[in-house]
Amino acid sequence: MTRILIIDNDANRRTAMASELREQGLEVSEQSDLILDTLSAADAIVAVDEMIIEALNSVADLAPTILLSATPSVKASVAALQAGAKDYLALPASSSDLMAAIERATAYSVRKPVVASEPVEMLGSSEIMDTLRQRIAKIGPTDSPVLILGQSGTGKELVARGIHAASNRSHAPLITLNCATVPPNLIESELFGLAAYENRQQESIGLVEAASGGTLFLDEIAELPASAQARLLQVVQGENRKVGQAQSLPVDVRIIAATHKDLKALTESGEFRSDLFYRLNVLCLELSPLQGRRKDIIDIGERLLAETCRRLNKPGLVLGEQAKEVMLEYHWPGNVRELSNAIERAVILADDGAVITQSLLAIEPTPPEQPEGMREAEDSQTSLEDYFVRFVQDNELLLTETELAAKLGISRKSLWERRQRLNIPRKKTQQRGPRESS
Ligand SMILES: Nc1ncnc2c1ncn2[C@@H]1O[C@H](COP(=O)(O)OP(=O)(O)OP(=O)(O)O)[C@@H](O)[C@H]1O
Ligand SMILES: [Mg+2]
Repeated sequence: MTRILIIDNDANRRTAMASELREQGLEVSEQSDLILDTLSAADAIVAVDEMIIEALNSVADLAPTILLSATPSVKASVAALQAGAKDYLALPASSSDLMAAIERATAYSVRKPVVASEPVEMLGSSEIMDTLRQRIAKIGPTDSPVLILGQSGTGKELVARGIHAASNRSHAPLITLNCATVPPNLIESELFGLAAYENRQQESIGLVEAASGGTLFLDEIAELPASAQARLLQVVQGENRKVGQAQSLPVDVRIIAATHKDLKALTESGEFRSDLFYRLNVLCLELSPLQGRRKDIIDIGERLLAETCRRLNKPGLVLGEQAKEVMLEYHWPGNVRELSNAIERAVILADDGAVITQSLLAIEPTPPEQPEGMREAEDSQTSLEDYFVRFVQDNELLLTETELAAKLGISRKSLWERRQRLNIPRKKTQQRGPRESS
């Protein structure tokens, strides 16, 4: 059962919140004062800001913390996140808001690292794929870091598995972490582990240590926060330093990193450490988009079709000539993943023994423009991220990025990172005076 600790010196409010959460099936304990010793027993802490603001850093280190404020502000919410809070809600907080925040906050403490399963066969008979297979066979047995670049769905994860399988580490674990899915304030302890503190008797093992002797695959490496980049550089050099620990210890892990972003450009703009980039970039595999790989489109399409027919027990389906032509023309923004989905869809919808047509594949040679997706608020909760999104949207047309970041009390870099994470791409700022350099 999820254990929640509520810290609030307002007894009425505290007992009301506690009983609401108990009704939701949570195990709740209450404190009217901050007592650090008892915190690590909780899966999440719900605390009123004035009670813990001074100690937020250490509190948030011990358990995911949701801050409640009777006087909420954008600036305070940003400061709270920077100090490690997982969420920030205005008081009074409804029990549904609180429950949603608790679910988000505890999602990571129960998350298991992804240990890769059986490698999938890498399909494709183009020259590009042949070269790729040869390079994987050569790169595999070395212990050097590998950087894999390529659009979404081009097979970066598949290649990472292939490298591990071709290495002398294949008997040891391959552990995968998608850097974009872990909140920035948790990623360092997740990756590098947490030292034992006065209040925490047990040190925790990070994924680096868990992958010892094997391979650690860091997907979406461009999303790794700066402080974690520094620690990762040490790991690439053979040393791991846990959060809260003074000295580093030797570690034997091979790092494979992947991203669909232009990592070189990110080092030039200062978003990604260049020393780390150069260490990761020793061996670089750039995966080509599916569009234009004519041989692969048909070859992979037919192989996937045969496989899907077998799996769904629908024998005898074939690709029609006109469907093949459209497949060759289509731009496949989702690459092999999209091809695989299109085939699966067609197999499900096709009659037994039919010829697969373009309409069954549901692809168009020139697909219509995607409408600018307005991001709909999922619910009415006043979370930290909502404050941020609303503030940015309300002000971005009036302020430059530098002014916006200053108003939020964060760096331009953090503003940029959060825009990426929360999917609020930059709109054009009104031209006022000289253009900004980026
Ligand atoms: N050459 C290939 N042969 C067979 N299957 C492939 C190939 N390339 C990709 N796939 C399949 O396409 C899907 C997407 O591949 P993968 O997850 O490796 O892509 P990715 O580059 O990591 O994408 P993303 O950036 O979105 O994470 C997977 O199901 C994978 O098995
Ligand atoms: Mg991937």
